[in-house]
Amino acid sequence: MQIEDHPSALRNRQPIFEVLDPLLVSHARVLEVASGNGTHGAYCTANRPDLHWQATEADPIKLAVLRSRYEQQGGIQEPFALDALHFDWSSQQADVLLAINLVHISPFSVTAALMLGASQVLPSDGMLLLYGPYRVNGKHTSPSNAEFDANLQQQNPSWGIRDIQTLQDAAAPHKLWLQQRLDMPANNQFLVFTRTH
Ligand SMILES: C[S@@+](CC[C@H](N)C(=O)[O-])C[C@H]1O[C@@H](n2cnc3c(N)ncnc32)[C@H](O)[C@@H]1O
Repeated sequence: MQIEDHPSALRNRQPIFEVLDPLLVSHARVLEVASGNGTHGAYCTANRPDLHWQATEADPIKLAVLRSRYEQQGGIQEPFALDALHFDWSSQQADVLLAINLVHISPFSVTAALMLGASQVLPSDGMLLLYGPYRVNGKHTSPSNAEFDANLQQQNPSWGIRDIQTLQDAAAPHKLWLQQRLDMPANNQFLVFTRTH
């Protein structure tokens, strides 16, 4: 199978790796939700072969692409199906739960499920890492994000760019605390939540 990387994923894979690299301890177990076709897992494990990077997908077509990537390139662990809304999180353990470009392209129930998942798979001090565009204090961080948000909601009214405070409010009951907010290229941000027990 031909594996195609999305142009935006190719553009942001290096900045994403530069944030992840110092955050991930040696041999860190990364559980990636919504891996898409696996661009980020492939790139990060090529640069950090020590990582135990579990790629997953809800979409069967993308899961097939992920499996091809695993068979052709290795690096990532054998991918499996994971729909955040219907997943037995207690079957997994990870140091980091990672979701890149998921929170705005899914209903909020998916984010809520992700927070619940983080509370089950992460140890104390484990991290939930969310990458994508977010609003700050109710406001978009750029006119292009406002336009993108309108576009998303036109495609699906349950999608949209979330406010960081809304994410913090959903995270707190699961003892997930926002520790860092990093500005990324193209008006994206990396949110680093840490779990306490
Ligand atoms: C914009 S893509 C991001 C793919 C990849 N992370 C990237 O940035 O290149 C959004 C992904 O979210 C996945 N997704 C949507 N709903 C999901 C759910 N309930 N559980 C897990 N993944 C989901 C889709 O299948 C899709 O691959």
